[in-house]
Amino acid sequence: MNKTLKPLFACLFSGLICTGAAAAEPQVINIKTDGSSMVMSVTSDGEVLFHHFGGRIDDAAPVTGIKSYRRTDHGTDNLAYSTMGGRNFREPALRVTHADGDMNTELRYVSHTTRTLADTNVTRTVIKLTDTNQALDVELVYTAYAEENVITTHAVIRNREKGSIVLHSFYSSSLPVKARSYLLTHLYGAWARESQVDHTLLTHGSKSIESRKQVRTTHTENPAFMITLDSESFDENYGEVIAGALAWSGNFRLNFEVDEFNVLNILAGANPYASDYTLGEGESFTTPEMIYTYSSEGAGGASRNLHDWARNYGVWHGHVPTPTLLNSWEGAAFSFDAKTLTDMIDDAAAMGLEMFVLDDGWFGNKYPRNNDKAGLGDWEVNREKLPEGIDHIASYAHDKGLKFGIWIEPEMTNSKSELFEKHPEWVIQQPHREMHKGRGGTQLVLDLSNPEVQEFVFGVVDKLMTAHPEIAYIKWDANRCANSIGSAFQRPDEQSHFWIEYTQGLYKVMERIRAKYPDVLIQSCASGGGRVEYGALRYFDEVWTSDNTEALSRTRIQYGTSLFFPALVMGSHVSVTPNLQTGNSTPLKFRFDIACAGRLGMELQPKHMTEEERAEARRAIADYKEYRDIVMQGDLYRIGSPYDENGCYGLAYVSKDKRRAVVFTYCLLYQSRTVPQFRIRGLDPDTRYTVREMNTEEPRFWFDGGTFSGELLSRMGLNPKLSRIYDSAVFLLEAR
Ligand code: DGJ
Repeated sequence: MNKTLKPLFACLFSGLICTGAAAAEPQVINIKTDGSSMVMSVTSDGEVLFHHFGGRIDDAAPVTGIKSYRRTDHGTDNLAYSTMGGRNFREPALRVTHADGDMNTELRYVSHTTRTLADTNVTRTVIKLTDTNQALDVELVYTAYAEENVITTHAVIRNREKGSIVLHSFYSSSLPVKARSYLLTHLYGAWARESQVDHTLLTHGSKSIESRKQVRTTHTENPAFMITLDSESFDENYGEVIAGALAWSGNFRLNFEVDEFNVLNILAGANPYASDYTLGEGESFTTPEMIYTYSSEGAGGASRNLHDWARNYGVWHGHVPTPTLLNSWEGAAFSFDAKTLTDMIDDAAAMGLEMFVLDDGWFGNKYPRNNDKAGLGDWEVNREKLPEGIDHIASYAHDKGLKFGIWIEPEMTNSKSELFEKHPEWVIQQPHREMHKGRGGTQLVLDLSNPEVQEFVFGVVDKLMTAHPEIAYIKWDANRCANSIGSAFQRPDEQSHFWIEYTQGLYKVMERIRAKYPDVLIQSCASGGGRVEYGALRYFDEVWTSDNTEALSRTRIQYGTSLFFPALVMGSHVSVTPNLQTGNSTPLKFRFDIACAGRLGMELQPKHMTEEERAEARRAIADYKEYRDIVMQGDLYRIGSPYDENGCYGLAYVSKDKRRAVVFTYCLLYQSRTVPQFRIRGLDPDTRYTVREMNTEEPRFWFDGGTFSGELLSRMGLNPKLSRIYDSAVFLLEAR
């Protein structure tokens, strides 16, 4: 053990309150991946300073001597975890009121360890800090994923004081970044218009992205971002980009503060909004995980890093694709009987789909789920609609060679439900205040911070799976936000714990579900893309990207989603035209070519399709099966963006061994005499690829069937003559 630290250690482990930090020896902490470094140093005063997150630096030793030239009255240097107190003026990652009322926290180094985990690709560094004056400890935990170039981080805050402390802010990380300029890219939107992309050049002061909705947190903003360094324009292929994504399914906040020294201070974590959290003596609080990556290959490189990490570590089944499916919602909504469903299954099987998903409307007897006003919580099959039960539908699907999936919304109830009659105290409400009723004017959120509710929600899945082990897929929906907050479970003086403990409650339930049912595929849906984040994806397999299934809107929704999430998790369905949400009409081919760039499904009443349309669907589905492994597991190279003024957009997925690629090309605006050019990056320049157009009846372009080098395909590209709005073409490239 380092000599100078001995007294501090002794006091830490004896449980004594330390009254001053011991002097530390200057040293460097360099957390590395194959292509990036996070460099920190410990000053002789014991402060842990943050110097660099970016391209890998092997010899970072000189940073111990670095001078910031800052006068001491100008605030602290860049801290690894900024706190309220001492000389820090920036928004703090940690703000605490200590047991004796002291509002300051000044963390000093105690020790750090780095070890390689059983998976040798992963290294964990834990930096232990303690306050100079109070018995408050913080551990900063950094996990480096070498090949993916991802570093994740969270903090553990421990109260050893004599009495309770209150955490006011408890971010997962604070990341100081120093560059000439910072272009922030993030998602915004609304229901049925999720994942739109905003680019903002950060100016001095603060900009924050947050949710206060608790449930359905990602419709409007998403806890993920990119920062392009030293450039005022967003670039797919070039330049330095830092990307981050928070794994948290509750209120979140990302704060971007450009300070007087031109340093960008990024805070990311659970939203401190109305969330004061009391930590009793001896208790600790673990923040959510923040995921960072760095790439010198523009936004595309950052996305690929995140996609790799997601598939290898961040998604429950990162390497198991969800089957192609027919979902009953847009085709049947609440009005169906067994025959409606078995007919849909027949049609799905005939078109080559692999699963049938029974959406909303199958449950409730006293209060039948015939519309969105009743029944949530009463998870017994509706005997009128399905007298032979779910098993009948599931076995019918199996007999036709299809898997079976089912919809639930277990966090919710309706005021018209047997559940609410029995347990009115389980819903979120503040006595003597009007209860806000959501969807249908009757929907209420169950208080998942209450362990009894957690038990119930686990039971919903457990009972369903026990009674129907043939269920292969669950669509887990959540159709309202939480508001008029009040929890009958939380103490009056700890009502603000609700926000955190709801999300922790959800995770406790999911832990149990995953321990017992590791194989079932589960989709995270929250009125479409309301729960698209890596906190959920630790337990879920995919997301319902949006309730907007219209292909043109989908170009933007899927593009935005792809910045941070792999195609593997993007549920994308072909639906009717004119589209039920937007009223827009698009050709069936275009709809398929858009949906095939994610996890393909269909969501319509097949009996309304013509014979020609069914044949077209059969062809598109068969072709998709030929290349979907590349979409699901390959490297994504976006070709421009659906926002580009030229109105052409493309996507190339390249297999990891670079032997195959699938290229999607779309025309979103009439081209007149212009012929679009699609340059396909990521190929091996020396390999020769044969190009074959998919989802077409006959060859349409001069290069179909031709063989071209990766060099030519990436430097010159292909020029399919797509000139009319909604023209599209998909190509499979295979190494000779
Ligand atoms: C909202 C979802 O996003 C839809 O796909 C559908 O499942 C409905 N809920 C059912 O109520």
